[in-house]
Amino acid sequence: MRIAVLSETDGAETRVSATPETVKKYKSLGADVVVQAGAGAKAGIPDAEFEAAGASVATTAGDALKDADIVLKVRRPAEGELTGVKPGALVIAIMDPYGQEAALKALADAQVSAFAMELMPRITRAQVMDVLSSQANLAGYRAVIDGSAEYGRAMPMMMTAAGTVPAARVFVMGAGVAGLQAVATARRLGAVVTATDVRPAAKEQVESLGAKFIAVEDEEFKQAETAGGYAKEMSDAYKAKQAELVASHIAKQDIVITTALIPGRPAPKLVSRAMVESMKPGSVIVDLAVERGGNCELAQAGQVVEHNGVKIVGHLNVPGRLAASASSLYAKNLYAFVETLVDKETKALAVKWDDELVKATCLTRDGAIVHTAFQPTA
Ligand code: NAI
Repeated sequence: MRIAVLSETDGAETRVSATPETVKKYKSLGADVVVQAGAGAKAGIPDAEFEAAGASVATTAGDALKDADIVLKVRRPAEGELTGVKPGALVIAIMDPYGQEAALKALADAQVSAFAMELMPRITRAQVMDVLSSQANLAGYRAVIDGSAEYGRAMPMMMTAAGTVPAARVFVMGAGVAGLQAVATARRLGAVVTATDVRPAAKEQVESLGAKFIAVEDEEFKQAETAGGYAKEMSDAYKAKQAELVASHIAKQDIVITTALIPGRPAPKLVSRAMVESMKPGSVIVDLAVERGGNCELAQAGQVVEHNGVKIVGHLNVPGRLAASASSLYAKNLYAFVETLVDKETKALAVKWDDELVKATCLTRDGAIVHTAFQPTA
């Protein structure tokens, strides 16, 4: 069994899909690991460290792919990137499959079995494989660090001989994995923290971290969580009530961190131009949803923009801003999944195609798109 670890071709991607630690684990599973030269460079892992862990290093992607049974990546391989891949090979990555019909067809045409790690069910057995959680956790932390770096004042209250510096007021919108980590991080830095969400379960979680929960808690709110634990798209009437509540609160905030997402849909617009204009100059908004259209109307993907003295931070790939930590967790998520695809006795690939983890994540197989959620419409 041979595992290939490819370099990322997207210039914005700093993470890598394996670490020396997971290479050692793959070796003890009975696999040979081939790492494309330079794959770990942006995450601070030189080729020599992969070699020391037992991997071999291939100069090109083509060399790494040759005879590989499993191909590991962070992002979905672009068209042409899999040239030379063995038909039937497993390709495992964060596939970003929504609205990507052509890309999925290309994966099917390449005759690979493509797995989308972000579709992993959120059940106890798969927690260790949950890339959304591992990466969102780091993004939530980094959003506070980025926000405080742009903010021209201190986060904690400081009483000095020269006077008192007040604590920053931080408001976190969306209290899922990223939002809760943002709440915890902002609290550790000494800010006064409030948070909102449309899922009732979030209230207790926010409060347990020492922050105040703010939301329109009507009947719709009480029903707003899907069986999978995700948010639903809210009604227009709810959104209007939510906007009114948020508008009065946001005007008093120093840093707003937005993390609100609905799986498979554009991010809900929660911070309008008028709300930005109500904030004090020097305030900061960090929009973690910017890659999915943004929670803030004025956020721009990949940029820090200023509007009436308010900075709006729209960094792309926020987990990638902590490339070493993000790679370490992502690589462990991948290993935990790959381990379930291998027969420990024979040390050979043995995919159980009817396993719920496989069924939930497998996009393509034998030249076709097999995932029920991504069937071609025409
Ligand atoms: P996400 O990244 O899809 O969304 C982030 C947050 O935005 C969510 O909390 C969502 O409710 C919120 N949101 C959506 N629309 C909103 C709006 N209009 N206003 C305010 N907030 C809005 O969610 P994430 O972080 O992936 O977590 C979703 C759920 O999954 C949570 O309940 C989390 O605790 C749960 N979870 C369960 C796991 C497990 O059982 N293995 C692992 C990780 C998360």
